[in-house]
Formats: sequence, C-alpha cells, structure tokens
Amino acid sequence: SRLPVVAIDGPAGAGKSTVSRLVAQRLGLTYLDTGALYRAVTWAVLRSGVPLADAVGVAEVAASTPVELRWQPDLRVFVAGEDCTDIIRTPEVTQAVSQVAAQPAVRQVLLYIQRQYGQRGGIVVEGRDIGTTVFPTAELKIFLTASVQERAQRRWQELQQQGITGLDVAAIAQAIQKRDAQDSQRQVSPLRQAADAVVIDSDGLDVAGVVAQIVAVWQTRS
Ligand code: C5P
Repeated sequence: SRLPVVAIDGPAGAGKSTVSRLVAQRLGLTYLDTGALYRAVTWAVLRSGVPLADAVGVAEVAASTPVELRWQPDLRVFVAGEDCTDIIRTPEVTQAVSQVAAQPAVRQVLLYIQRQYGQRGGIVVEGRDIGTTVFPTAELKIFLTASVQERAQRRWQELQQQGITGLDVAAIAQAIQKRDAQDSQRQVSPLRQAADAVVIDSDGLDVAGVVAQIVAVWQTRS
C-alpha cells in the first residue's frame, strides 16, 4: 500500500506547475514535475548532437543519461549530475521536447523513473499522461485546461515580467497549439483526459481559485 497520489494533467500553459506546487503545499504532499524529466532528456539529446529525428540515437541518449530529481527543498533537475533546472526551460528545449517525448523508448525509460519516485505515494504529480498511464490508480485526477487564447495571454504576461519582449500573443498561441497537437497525436500515451478525471477550466480563474477548487474536491473525497 502507499500514500495518496494526486494526478494533474493538461495542455501546455494551463498553469499546472504553479497550481500543482501550491496544491502539494496545502495538502502536505511532495511535488513531482514529470515534464521536467522529458525536458531533461531533451536537453541531453540536444547537447549530444544526435538529431531529433534519429529515433535510435535519441533512445540511446535516454537510456544512457542519468536523469534525476532532487528536492533541495525546491525541486531541481539533474542531468548526469549537473543541475539543469534553468536551462531546461529555454525555448530551444521547449521547442524540441514534444518530438523527444513522442519516442516510445524515451517514455519507457521515464515511466520507470516516475513510478520509482511515486512508489510510496504522498505526491502531487503533474504531466500529460499521469492519470491515464503513469498512475492510473491515483486517488484524485484533475484535468486542468484553459482556452488557447487565455494560456497564450498568461504566458505573454509572464515573459513580459521576465523582461522578455518582442513576442506577440499570436506567436505564443501558435507555439502552444503546436505542442498540444504533437502531445495529443502521438501513438504512445498521448495527452488525454482520464475518464475519471475532474475537469477544471481555468479561464477567468486565478491561481488561488484553481487551487481552492482542487483542495475542495480533495476534501470532499477524503
Ligand atoms: O509540462 P511541461 O511543459 O514541462 O512538459 C514538457 C513536455 O514534456 C510536454 O510538452 C510533453 O511533450 C512532455 N510530457 C509528456 N508526458 C508527461 C509530461 C510531459 O509527454 N507526463
């Protein structure tokens, strides 16, 4: 037996990371970001010089590169012992990650790692296929979504705050849609709402509002 698992899936830019971190805090659970693992492998592939379209080469990098999460106490990501927490958020990695994540061999390697981290439960796990594939027996499954327009608008605002200008909302919306399409259309474990997931559409809700809804659902269940 294990402690409870909360799965939070949804498309890119729906606010899953912020929401998952806060929900974990509120419920006294550990936060597990599975997208960070796919980003870490993607970073390793980019660094290796193996072309993204080389399925065998990508599989080899995934199998031979140690990828690790550490809670220090904030979640940090290590590739071959090196802290890559910040570099995996760059546009280069973001643009390449869906292609790497579509490789069955990559998903196989990371499935094993995700289940190891989740073995004892007590976690809020964020991703695309957590409720459907990684932890299908999760006690609570949330599918967090929002309109493309709203997600792009929020991302634009975030970038603005970081001093990154020159991108318009339409370009961001296009990149988000492209990644969603790739993640939804892959053969193995696509982005999909689990049949037993609670859907939260965050259009017009702020972070606190979404967190409050999830905590409320959790409390009615336990
Ligand atoms: O959540 P984040 O945007 O960091 O995820 C990056 C990418 O990792 C996604 O676009 C998707 O291609 C992949 N991913 C996945 N399965 C997960 C989590 C992320 O395929 N459970």
